[in-house]
Amino acid sequence: MRQHRTPRLLGTLLLVAAAGVSAVGAAPSAPDRTVTPLSRVVPAPASVDPGGSPYRITSGTRIRVSPSEEARRVGSYLAGVLRPSTGYRLPVTDEPGGDGIRLRLSRADTAGLGAEGYRLTSKKGAVTITARESAGLFHGVQTLRQLLPAAVEEDSRQPGPWPVAGGTVTDTPRYGWRGAMLDVSRHFFTVDQVKRYIDQLALYKINTLHLHLSDDQGWRIAIDSWPRLAPYGGSTAVGGGPGGHYTKAQYKDIVRYAASRHLQVVPEIDMPGHTNAALASYPELNCDGVAPPLYTGTEVGFSSLCVDKPVTYDFVDDVIRELAAITPGEYLHIGGDEAHSTSHEDYVAFMERVQPVVAKYGKTVVGWHQLTGAVPAKGALAQYWGLDGTGAAEKEQVAAAARNGTGLILSPADRVYLDMKYTADTPLGLSWAGLVEVRRSYDWDPAAYLPGAPASAVRGVEAPLWSETLTTSPDIEYMAFPRLPGVAELGWSPASTHDWDGYKVRLAAQAPRWDALGMNYYRSPQVPWPTGK
Ligand code: ACM
Repeated sequence: MRQHRTPRLLGTLLLVAAAGVSAVGAAPSAPDRTVTPLSRVVPAPASVDPGGSPYRITSGTRIRVSPSEEARRVGSYLAGVLRPSTGYRLPVTDEPGGDGIRLRLSRADTAGLGAEGYRLTSKKGAVTITARESAGLFHGVQTLRQLLPAAVEEDSRQPGPWPVAGGTVTDTPRYGWRGAMLDVSRHFFTVDQVKRYIDQLALYKINTLHLHLSDDQGWRIAIDSWPRLAPYGGSTAVGGGPGGHYTKAQYKDIVRYAASRHLQVVPEIDMPGHTNAALASYPELNCDGVAPPLYTGTEVGFSSLCVDKPVTYDFVDDVIRELAAITPGEYLHIGGDEAHSTSHEDYVAFMERVQPVVAKYGKTVVGWHQLTGAVPAKGALAQYWGLDGTGAAEKEQVAAAARNGTGLILSPADRVYLDMKYTADTPLGLSWAGLVEVRRSYDWDPAAYLPGAPASAVRGVEAPLWSETLTTSPDIEYMAFPRLPGVAELGWSPASTHDWDGYKVRLAAQAPRWDALGMNYYRSPQVPWPTGK
C-alpha cells in the first residue's frame, strides 16, 4: 500500500535529486489528454467561469508564493504533490512577478473569500490562487490537483502534458464545520494510519478530524495523572486484539500533521457511558469500588461513571485539563451518548458539573445530541446522529435546543455513518441504521434536515466512522470512499449546486485519482465509473 505523505516526500526528494539534470530535457512522449473542465471538482465550487487558454505546468514552472511562512508552507506542500509525477523541479520562490503557479495571500481583493475561500484563475502562462488566509490557499491547491490529469497523483514520473483549463473558480464554503470522525477505540489506528486518512480528508476540503479516543473497549490517550488508563485501559480492542494508545507526543504529532493540512483535531472522551476501559483501570471510579474486566465485545450502554462520587469529578477534571493542554483547537467533545446505565437525573447532574470544566480549560463543549436532554452549556454544539425514523419527540428536543442557541453538527446515521454497509453484501461495517448506498448518503440537505431547527443553527456536517469491524487503512478507505466526498460536498458547496446526476459524474472522475494514490474504495453501481473500474 502507498504510504502517507511523509514517506512520499522522502521519495520526492530522491526523485528530484535524480531528475535534477534531466528535468529540463525531453519529456516522455505525451498521450492525448482532454483538459478537465473547471467545474469537474468535488466539492462543487461555488462559482465557475470557464474560458480562455489553458495553463500548462512545464519543466520550467516555478511555484511563486507570497512572502509569508504560511504561503511558503502551502507552496512546499503543492511541490511535494507535483514533483514525483511530473518529474519537474518546481522550485518554490517568493521572488515577485513572473509566470508559473502563483499562491497569493492578499487582504486587498479578498473580503468575500473569508477564512477558507479562494479564487483560482488559469490562463496561458499562469495559474493564480488568491486567498485571504493560508487555509484558502490550501483548499485552492486541492482544486488545482483535481483540475490536473489524475496521473499527477502517481508517485513516479508520468508522461505529461499537465494542463489546467482556462477560466476562474471563486469558491467559499457553505459551512465552517466539515468533519470526519475516526473511532480509534474499538480498534486502534496508528499515527501513520491516522495521517494517511488526514491526507485523504484534505483532498475534499474536510477541516475537522474528530478522534473518538475512549470507549468501553479502549482508552487511547496517555493521561499522566491517571497512568493506568492508557497502558491497561488501552491494552485491548474489539475481538481481543492488542489495542494501543497514543503518547502525548504522538497525539501532538497528529495534531500538528492535521494542522499542516488545515484540519483541526477535536478529541472526544465519551462520558458518562462508554467508559468501561476507564472503570476497568481504576476500581475507585466504580460505585461499588470493584473494577470490571476489560471488554472486547460490541454491546453498548452497560457502563457508567459513578455520578455520586467526588473522585469521578477529580478524574474528569484531570483528563479534560491534560487533554485541553495538548489540543490547540477550540473544541472538546464529551460524548454523552447511549448513557443507558445512568439515570436521567444523574445524567443531567453529571453534565451540569462537567460542562463548566471544559470551559474552565478554555474549550467549547461538543456532545452527541443526547446532551440536549440535559442543559447544554452556552455555546455548546450538539452532534445529531439520529435517523430519518427517529421519533418526533427526540428530534424536537434537539430542535428546541437549536432554537435556544445550541449549534448543530449533522451526522444522521442512516445518511453519513460511514461504517454502515452499502448493501447487504458489503463485507465490512454494520447495518443497525440501515444500508446506505452512495446516493442516499449524498442526497439530503443539512439546512432542511431537522424539522423545527433553524437553518442558522446548523454549523456543518460530520461523517463518523466507527471501527468495530475495521482494522486496516484499506478497511477505512473502503467504507469512506466514495461516501465521504459526498458529505464533504454537503458541507462545502452551495445548496444550489446540489444535483445527484451531476455529482455522480464528478465523483466518478475521482476514481483514477484514488487508483493513483493507492486508495481502496467501493465500486458502487450507482456511480458511472470510467470504463474498466
Ligand atoms: C453513537 O453512534 N453512539 C454516537
